[in-house]
Amino acid sequence: MSVEEIKKIAQIGAGVMGHGIAQVAAMTGYDVALMDISKDALDRAMKLITVSLSKLVKKNKLTEEQKEAVLGKIKPTLDLKEAVQDADYVIEAVFESLDLKKQVFKEMDEIAPEHTILASNTSTIPATILGDATNRPDKVIDMHWFNPAQLMKLIEIMPGEKTSEETLKTTVELSKKLGKVPIVLKKDVWGYVTSRMAISFLYEGAWDLQRGMAEPKEIDAAVRYKLGFPMGPFELADLTGIDIGREMDEIVEELSKTHPAYVEGPVVRGPPIVKEYIEKGWHGMKSGKGFYEYPGPGVYKRVEIPEELKEKYDPTRFISTLVNVAAYLLRMEVSTRDDIDTMMKLGLGYPKGIFQFADEIGVGKVVETLKDAKERYGQNWYEPDPLLVEMAGAGKKFYE
Ligand SMILES: NC(=O)c1ccc[n+]([C@@H]2O[C@H](COP(=O)([O-])OP(=O)(O)OC[C@H]3O[C@@H](n4cnc5c(N)ncnc54)[C@H](O)[C@@H]3O)[C@@H](O)[C@H]2O)c1
Repeated sequence: MSVEEIKKIAQIGAGVMGHGIAQVAAMTGYDVALMDISKDALDRAMKLITVSLSKLVKKNKLTEEQKEAVLGKIKPTLDLKEAVQDADYVIEAVFESLDLKKQVFKEMDEIAPEHTILASNTSTIPATILGDATNRPDKVIDMHWFNPAQLMKLIEIMPGEKTSEETLKTTVELSKKLGKVPIVLKKDVWGYVTSRMAISFLYEGAWDLQRGMAEPKEIDAAVRYKLGFPMGPFELADLTGIDIGREMDEIVEELSKTHPAYVEGPVVRGPPIVKEYIEKGWHGMKSGKGFYEYPGPGVYKRVEIPEELKEKYDPTRFISTLVNVAAYLLRMEVSTRDDIDTMMKLGLGYPKGIFQFADEIGVGKVVETLKDAKERYGQNWYEPDPLLVEMAGAGKKFYE
């Protein structure tokens, strides 16, 4: 099916991501069915969309009539059949659970018309696995949006082994029509490029806290003020929710038993301290306490991170770990140097590409740092990727 033939989009799951995606699709002019199993979630989603559109009216970016027209294009429903039976393109954004997503894909496949493409906004699950839960693996694809979906430009697209060229092309063109910048990965792996990099960023800081090397504020200060990131790993973990790590870890565990090839390479795992926080319910800003304290559950407050604390922590190994993850993805041809660096900037807010960081530190120094960490701490994600070792040996840079 070509992009011109898409008239109706079904958005399954109306949470943080689903409501934003539905809004973008309706603003582009599509008829949208917004489906969730929870009436509360649907009500909240419609309220959030209304508030967001009203802000655009206030800024004169939309008229009151246009706002009403966009709202009129979105039909909330609790019925999967009603949402999917006449949809041309479906975007799934239910909870990040392998079993739940496989079940939802199986059901959607039974209901949707033959031509319909089934896309997933999963953070980690390879499209091949979701496709195999259906009788149309050629029409299943991962379409990874970023939060907030209304604002973030990147869409990371990961076709499965059986995804057709046509499904890929239509998804790329749809992403552009929705005003986004699509980047296509060449292979499907656990966690795409961005989620692998994002979770490594969060966990690497937490490991150093676990090791007693520095306090959250000291690590955050070094990452902010020495490396130039907008936020350090603890601020970001509190903002996104520390508990997202649990879902990711569970999926890695399961895939390492059933599909080990998808989780090969350096995958930074959660340290015990993160599990402790999750068990205690200290999930971050949404619960009022995470690595930092907040005025109340769900009350946004930017953490004060004094610049002078940056001297207490050397972030060289922190960034070297991220270089190692990226080097594996590059060597495995999951993506290219330029696409990986674009995604870091566009999707994860990096001040520069990860391979630019590598060149600045020096690939030789990165390898030395990783070898030292492997010896000290033993974790396998510190084993320097063969690409880095070869480049260091030849004195090569990523950007000549
Ligand atoms: N939040 C992010 O920053 C982000 C970014 C990119 C991708 N993702 C991924 O997007 C997906 C959704 O994440 P979220 O943050 O929007 O989660 P969320 O918890 O805010 O929303 C999930 C929604 O799915 C609904 N749901 C659960 N089971 C369902 C079913 N069987 N049918 C229909 N709806 C069902 C829930 O009621 C809930 O409203 C996950 O796979 C997540 O990993 C999240």
